[in-house]
This record gives sequence, structure tokens and C-alpha cells, in this order.
Amino acid sequence: MFSKNAKASCAAKPLLLVDATACRHMSLQMKRHLIIGASGGIGSAIANQLDGEVTRLSRSEDGFDITDEASVAAKLSALSGPYDTVFVATGALVINGHEPEKTIKALTPDGLTDQFQTNAVGPALILKHALPLLPKDRRAVFAVLSARVGSITDNNIGGWHSYRAAKAALNQLIHGAAIEMARTHKQTICVCLHPGTVETAFTAKYAGHHKTVSAETAATNLINVIDHLTPDQSGHFFDYAGDEIPW
Ligand SMILES: NC(=O)c1ccc[n+]([C@@H]2O[C@H](COP(=O)([O-])OP(=O)(O)OC[C@H]3O[C@@H](n4cnc5c(N)ncnc54)[C@H](OP(=O)(O)O)[C@@H]3O)[C@@H](O)[C@H]2O)c1
Repeated sequence: MFSKNAKASCAAKPLLLVDATACRHMSLQMKRHLIIGASGGIGSAIANQLDGEVTRLSRSEDGFDITDEASVAAKLSALSGPYDTVFVATGALVINGHEPEKTIKALTPDGLTDQFQTNAVGPALILKHALPLLPKDRRAVFAVLSARVGSITDNNIGGWHSYRAAKAALNQLIHGAAIEMARTHKQTICVCLHPGTVETAFTAKYAGHHKTVSAETAATNLINVIDHLTPDQSGHFFDYAGDEIPW
């Protein structure tokens, strides 16, 4: 796929010293990428770093509300595929004033429902309606931003119930869809990704003592991860370093 950063460093080297493999990849590029949630911290950094043709979609710039199936169907059916990458960078932690719960006692049906709508239903609707945009004859990636806290195995402290549950549901949806897609889109890699703790509006109040990275660094990491994934890794959950996260 190659990011702009990689291209710049390749172009800067004297011709004879340029890595042959890198340039072979570059000559095959002009890949097409669709970034959904391109107005967000991570989404905009990814859209800015990808090389090739980048199509950006977002709620604030295009009225693309992922919780509304009619909106998802209309916007995606208006696009001409195929895309080599569909990257879903949407999501929210605080929705309609519902903060992440410190205890199960703080759980509300509305807060839980809002989390499912944005973090599970929305990306699943995108995948449903993006299937016709993915090629069947070559490698492609459908990646969606999940979160490590959606890992049930990794949950040792409780709290954040609605967000965790919505991301766990998202993980299940992507895992199941990837199994089906392996039959029809044999070279498509369909994955959940954890970006790390990233300095965006999303984390402004919640990063706490976690080590954070800039959105630009997160985007570089995530592009590197999806560049190296292979079809046998489809249906799995990876962090920003390419390490698999248990469900
Ligand atoms: N930042 C982190 O540390 C971190 C850590 C783990 C996981 N993640 C995950 O990474 C993803 C992106 O996070 P971020 O930090 O980049 O957040 P962000 O800067 O707040 O961006 C969120 C994006 O989601 C979009 N969005 C929210 N609800 C939407 C809806 N109903 N319809 C359409 N678009 C909607 C926003 O669109 P508009 O602004 O256009 O309305 C925006 O583009 C989220 O899924 C989050 O769970 C982030």
C-alpha cells in the first residue's frame, strides 16, 4: 500500500541504492483507499498519509451517519469500486452525554444502546454495504478501529461496560463476516485494529496515565500493520504493532 512517508524516503535515495522490492511495490501502486470517519483524529491522519487515490467520508463533512442504514447504503452505493483499502475509523466513547461507566451501577439502557449503535451496528452496516466495493481478484483490506478494551480476555479491571461490550460485539461481527468473506473474497483481509492510546478529541479526558502517541504516529503504525497482513490473518484482532490481541 505504501504511505507517503515511505515514498518520500525512497525518492530521496540515489537511484542505484533504492531498495528494489520497495520500488517494485511502488510501481504497482496507485491503490484506491476509502477512509470512513476521515474527519476524526486517527481517520484524518490515515487519509493524509496513504498514497494513491483517497476517498474520504465523514459525518461532519458529508452527512454520513453510520447509525442510519439508509445513509450508509446511499453513500456507499454512490461510490465506484473497487477499493484496495476500506478503513473504518469511526467511533465514540461519550455519546449523548453518556460517559464511560466506572461501575455496572452506572449502566443505563440508553448509554448501552448508543454505544452499540455507534461502535458495533455502524461499522457492521458499513461492511454490509461495502462488500460490492471490494475486489474479488486481488488483495484488499477491510480494517475497522476497535479497541483493546473490547477484548474479554484482556478485561481485568471492569468498568467502561457499554464501550467494552460494543467493541466486543464489533469484534464478533468482523470475525464472523471474515469467515464468510474468505469464500467470496479470498484475498480480502478483514480485521479489527487497536490503535494504541492516541492523542485525539476522543481521549482528551480519558488518557490518564497511559502512554499516548500522536494521531500521525498511530496512522503510520496502523498503515504498516495493514500493509503486512496476509489473507490467512483475516478475521483477527491486531494492535498497532501487528501483535494479535486475544478475543
Ligand atoms: N484515540 C484513542 O486512543 C483510541 C483508542 C482505542 C480505540 N480507538 C478507536 O479509534 C476510533 C477513532 O478514534 P479517534 O481517536 O480518531 O476519535 P475521534 O477523533 O473522536 O474521531 C471519531 C470519528 O468517528 C466519527 N463518528 C462518530 N460517530 C459517528 C456516526 N454516528 N456516524 C459517522 N461518523 C461518526 C466522527 O465523525 P464526525 O466528527 O465527522 O462527526 C469522527 O470522524 C474509534 O473507534 C475508537 O474507539 C481510539
